[in-house]
Amino acid sequence: MEQNNENKTTAMPRIGEKAPEFKAVTTQGEIHFPNDYSGQWVILFSHPADFTPVCTSEFITFASLEKKFAEANCKLVGLSVDGLYSHIAWLRTIGEKIEYKGMKNVEVKFPLIEDITMEVAKKYGMIQPGEATTKAVRAVFYVDPKGIIRTILYYPLSLGRNFDEIYRILIALQTADAFNIATPADWRPGDDVIVSPAGSCGAAKSRMEGKEDMTCQEWFFCSKKIDKEKVLKTILKK
Ligand code: BEZ
Repeated sequence: MEQNNENKTTAMPRIGEKAPEFKAVTTQGEIHFPNDYSGQWVILFSHPADFTPVCTSEFITFASLEKKFAEANCKLVGLSVDGLYSHIAWLRTIGEKIEYKGMKNVEVKFPLIEDITMEVAKKYGMIQPGEATTKAVRAVFYVDPKGIIRTILYYPLSLGRNFDEIYRILIALQTADAFNIATPADWRPGDDVIVSPAGSCGAAKSRMEGKEDMTCQEWFFCSKKIDKEKVLKTILKK
C-alpha cells in the first residue's frame, strides 16, 4: 500500500488485475486508458522529468522502436508529472538537436501524458517517496488486449531501461498466450519453451515415457521446441 498526499491509502496495481482506468491529456490529444487500447497490447511507462538526460536517451530509444512494437500489436504511452507545454518543447528539442547511439531526428509519435496533479502516477504506484516525492520512477506496465496488467517493471531514477528486455518480455508474454507454454530463463524466440507440470500421475508417466511431443528430464521439467519462425509468424504482423 502507498500513502497519497491526503494520507489516504491507495492500492498499488498488481499483475493479473484490470489496469486502473483514467482519462488524460496527452501530446496526441485526450486518451481514455485502457479502453482506447482494447484489442491491442499497450505499454504504459513513466519517466521522472522532461529535459533530463537519462529520460532523453530513453525517449529516443522508445521512439526508434515504436514501429517494432507496433508490429507486435503493441502501442506505447508515456507519462511524467510535467505539463503539456513542457512535453511538447522537450520532444521538439529532442527531434531537432539530440543524437543518441546513432539515433537522431526522432519524432515521438506516441502519446505522452501530462500529469501535473500526479493523479495517474499515484494510481499506478509510480510515485515512490523513498526515491522521489515529486517525480515518477521509471515504471513499465504491460497491459494485454483485455486490459489486464501482465508485467510491471520499476527502475530507479538513475537507471536507464534495457529495451532488449522490454521487447523480449512483450514477445515472451504473447508466445506464452499463443502456445499455452511458459518461457525459461533468458528465453528468446527459437529457444525451447517450458510445458507446465502434468496434472496427474498418469500424465506425468506418459510424459516421462516420451509419449508426448516434449522432452522431460524429470516429471517437473519438460520442454519442447517451437521454431523461431513459427513464434514470429504468430506474433508479428508486418
Ligand atoms: C535523468 O533522466 O537523467 C534523470 C531524471 C531524474 C533524476 C535523475 C536523472
